[in-house]
Amino acid sequence: MALRCSRTIPALGLLTLAIVGILLVVLPARERETPPEHMYGIVLDAGSSHTSMYTYKWPADKQNDTGIVIQHNECHVEGGGISSYAGFPGGAAKSLEICLERAVKDIPKYRHHQTSLYLGATAGMRLLNIINATESQRVLKEVENKLRSYPFKFKNATILGGQEEGAYGWVTVNYLLENFVKFGFVGRWLNPGRETVGALDLGGASTQIAFETSEKVEDKDNVMELKLYGQTYRLYTQSFLCYGQDQFLRKLLAHLITTAGVKPQVAHPCYPQQFNVSITLGKDVFNSPCTKSYRPAQYDPQMTISVVGTGDYQSCLDNIKKLFSFDNCSYSKCSFNGVFQPNVRGSFMAFSAFFFTSNYIKLLTNIPVTSPSRLKEANRLICNMTMAEMTQKTKQKEKHMKNTCAVSNFVQVLLLQGYSFDEHSLPSISFQKKAGGASVGWALGCMLTLSNLVPAESLGMRKALPPGPWAGILFLFITLLLGALGYLLMMIYRNARFKEGMV
Ligand SMILES: *[C@@H]1O[C@H](CO)[C@@H](O)[C@H](O)[C@H]1NC(C)=O
Ligand SMILES: *[C@@H]1O[C@H](CO)[C@@H](O)[C@H](O)[C@H]1NC(C)=O
Ligand SMILES: *[C@@H]1O[C@H](CO)[C@@H](O)[C@H](O)[C@H]1NC(C)=O
Repeated sequence: MALRCSRTIPALGLLTLAIVGILLVVLPARERETPPEHMYGIVLDAGSSHTSMYTYKWPADKQNDTGIVIQHNECHVEGGGISSYAGFPGGAAKSLEICLERAVKDIPKYRHHQTSLYLGATAGMRLLNIINATESQRVLKEVENKLRSYPFKFKNATILGGQEEGAYGWVTVNYLLENFVKFGFVGRWLNPGRETVGALDLGGASTQIAFETSEKVEDKDNVMELKLYGQTYRLYTQSFLCYGQDQFLRKLLAHLITTAGVKPQVAHPCYPQQFNVSITLGKDVFNSPCTKSYRPAQYDPQMTISVVGTGDYQSCLDNIKKLFSFDNCSYSKCSFNGVFQPNVRGSFMAFSAFFFTSNYIKLLTNIPVTSPSRLKEANRLICNMTMAEMTQKTKQKEKHMKNTCAVSNFVQVLLLQGYSFDEHSLPSISFQKKAGGASVGWALGCMLTLSNLVPAESLGMRKALPPGPWAGILFLFITLLLGALGYLLMMIYRNARFKEGMV
């Protein structure tokens, strides 16, 4: 008996060791049990139609690591974007107060002075800058002074470049999907060795596309090289000003009005049949740099006209195509308007208005955007719906539904004819609003980049085991496990035989 115990105990010990070893190697390492102290960062996304404030947090002792910055809070500023306060001094700054006050309460007081604060303005301010650069600088300065009056560490308030906006969106998407590094076993960082995912953003005044490419980028303005964790990523990034959904809808109106001639009543093939609205020529249509080329030689900006829906899918689509130029390409290939674009490759995440559009398509038709033919089929159905049908199916207000046919056809033309997604690549687009609890947009990528939360050099990854040794260790533990198990079974078998012998 004593002999057998002395033989089983080491075997059991080895068995336990093997199991513990395998668990250590295979299970993802957990964060420590005690909640860590946090650091915070704030980004204000000053878009063309509205401003959103995002607060992020990460464990204070892991300043430079990744996969650990999470969204703490978001706050949507009431009213229009900061550019809509042009000509109303004080308005833009005042609009941000409620959200900033909330951030003061949300973030522990002793962290305030360490909390970086950024404001990035996008296409709405790019347009205001074209209309009146003095005024756009004034709005920006006013907003900056407001931000400086809070206890946070103000970093900057700028108008982001379009390509930059696209690249930050790409950083956000791939950070949230943990495509750069992954928190692996026993607290080590690993390069998951996954392909990165492209980013498709549809805002109010511009739209962005960004993806990794190995093709030659023929226009150097479209290349951006990002060095993250010791890896260099070569991105193609492009932003189309005036191809955000609000400005595109203006262009469509301007085109319809100009083609029909300025009259008290104009037919709109993308509005639901019999739906009608009245609009003011200046304020609603021509007072934008995006519709400048459509301006009639003579018109009264104060004149109101009525726009009446005809719900005509084919005519809607044909008119929308006229807002893109698919010829005059001076490179080997172009997306549209003479802009170079390499072939789209890999998966994509489409967010902001792309997400809302795909969601409306699904609510209205039950058809997911999974192939070009299904997208066209869905759009034909949507354009034939009455306003009553739409509002009933989506429980949304008329003002949100009247442009659904136009916007979904615009998305169709942009993705299929513009970016050249086809039956193989279209299904690889995932339409998403959030990932890992954070809103998908440029804000997170901007903060990660500017705060050096995604450093250029590879960090603890040097310490991490490459896959070869990792597999070797796993193999050793498994061999140990099998050996110990085999030995124990043998002992049990012998024991049984011994007892049989006794009987
Ligand atoms: C993070 O990186 C920056 C520069 O790369 C460095 O100055 C800073 O000390 C680092 N912080 C930590 C906590 O390692
Ligand atoms: C541009 O804005 C400034 C105020 O910032 C104003 O004085 C000026 O008249 C504006 N110019 C035009 C052309 O509207
Ligand atoms: C547009 O709607 C108004 C009421 O909202 C109505 O009086 C007018 O006749 C309509 N016009 C057309 C062309 O349907």
